[in-house]
Amino acid sequence: MSRTVIRGGLVITAAEEMHADVLVEGEQVVALAATGSDAADAWTADRVIDATGLYVIPGGVDAHTHMQLPFGGTEASDTFETGTRAAAFGGTTTIVDFAVQSVGSSLRAGLDAWHDKAAGVCAIDYSFHMILGDVNDASLKEMDLLVDEGVTSFKLFMAYPGVFYSDDGQILRAMQRGAANGGLIMMHAENGIAIDVLVEQALAAGRTDPRYHGEVRRELLEAEATHRAVKLSQVAGSPLYVVHVSAASAVAELAKARDEGLPVFGETCPQYLYLSTDNLAEPGFEGAKYVCSTPLRPREHQAALWRGLRTNDLQVVSTDHCPFCFVGQKELGRGDFSKIPNGLPGVENRMDLLHQAVLDGHLTRRRWIEIACATPARMFGLYPRKGTVAPGADADLVVYDPAAEQTVSAATHHMNVDYSAYEGRRLTGRARTVLSRGTVVVDDGVYLGRPGHGRYQPRSTCQYL
Ligand code: URP
Ligand code: ZN
Ligand code: ZN
Repeated sequence: MSRTVIRGGLVITAAEEMHADVLVEGEQVVALAATGSDAADAWTADRVIDATGLYVIPGGVDAHTHMQLPFGGTEASDTFETGTRAAAFGGTTTIVDFAVQSVGSSLRAGLDAWHDKAAGVCAIDYSFHMILGDVNDASLKEMDLLVDEGVTSFKLFMAYPGVFYSDDGQILRAMQRGAANGGLIMMHAENGIAIDVLVEQALAAGRTDPRYHGEVRRELLEAEATHRAVKLSQVAGSPLYVVHVSAASAVAELAKARDEGLPVFGETCPQYLYLSTDNLAEPGFEGAKYVCSTPLRPREHQAALWRGLRTNDLQVVSTDHCPFCFVGQKELGRGDFSKIPNGLPGVENRMDLLHQAVLDGHLTRRRWIEIACATPARMFGLYPRKGTVAPGADADLVVYDPAAEQTVSAATHHMNVDYSAYEGRRLTGRARTVLSRGTVVVDDGVYLGRPGHGRYQPRSTCQYL
């Protein structure tokens, strides 16, 4: 079995920081010892990675991606191959993507289709959540089977009538089933029925530009849906994880529920922390690059999101990576914002944007690792295999240079999309060496991995309760 030692770095986990050497045997971390100690100095290895002056952190766990998602008559532009390679460049070593059950079809068929897309091509490890697009007696029964085989979380939509939408009765039934079988319900909380009325009215009044996407998807309709989801979960006696929270008032709903002791959790995404309706209003059709749902909010909302991350009213930052090229894909919505495919690229940028947040004083270093690595792993049943640096954990490790300067750009990123949502942004910090299960997959900007190295990871039920 090959042995690698990472020497001299500052190891950062959600729980602690220590100057330690890390010994990897095969695919796993087997020991940590204080740098310079007799124990560490006695280690022999096939490969020594010098991390002096650098951080050694767990590989990022991005619990919300959509590779190759069919949406709005097109398909997300990153394949599992290109998207996971880009993730690796950005220091993310596990993704949890969303398999889709379409209307009239089974969970099994949807899950099999996503396995087919991902098998043999991923650069890093991957798991699946299941989107429940058609809640009925048969799919409710199938939820139990999926939980048993390691697909332990289910996304429901209060938005997108006619596509993924579930009504309150369907939501309640799925939550009841989740309460019984341990599956965690993830909610897209926006009142889609009301939004569709506002979309129709906006278009009829000639308001067709991308910025109206943000205006019709009103903050109140995110807050209302969040409140309703909390109450339905309370009735069902199930935990709830609200995805891509963007509005201050939705954070307030989660905080209130948590203050009442309810097992309610929230995720936000870098786009809501760094971008705003100003981007949606960019001239020409540029705003289309920033169309996602929930939508970007006025920048005043960002303070509430950062605060929520600090107070643990929000526990996770995922990307909701769902890229569509500007040319030929976002352009489908010229003259009608409701036809712009929803989603932003970001799987490559998340770890660095959050490291910048450490430098900017929004987060501590350990909180950075907690929201980007440890908690997503615990929330979705991958801990401590993923999300930490400890004996027995997978050697998904990032040697991170906290002083490296970069300018984010589509010209240099590795995601298969023709623009960057963060174009021109200067960031300090970058992954230098990335290991996935003990194999170096990225070193100094060079890809050393291979399609198919990434392995499917069945998950246990939520470990965060
Ligand atoms: O705009 C988004 N978020 N697209 C992906 C689908 C979803 O709702 O997560
Ligand atoms: Zn969603
Ligand atoms: Zn999503």
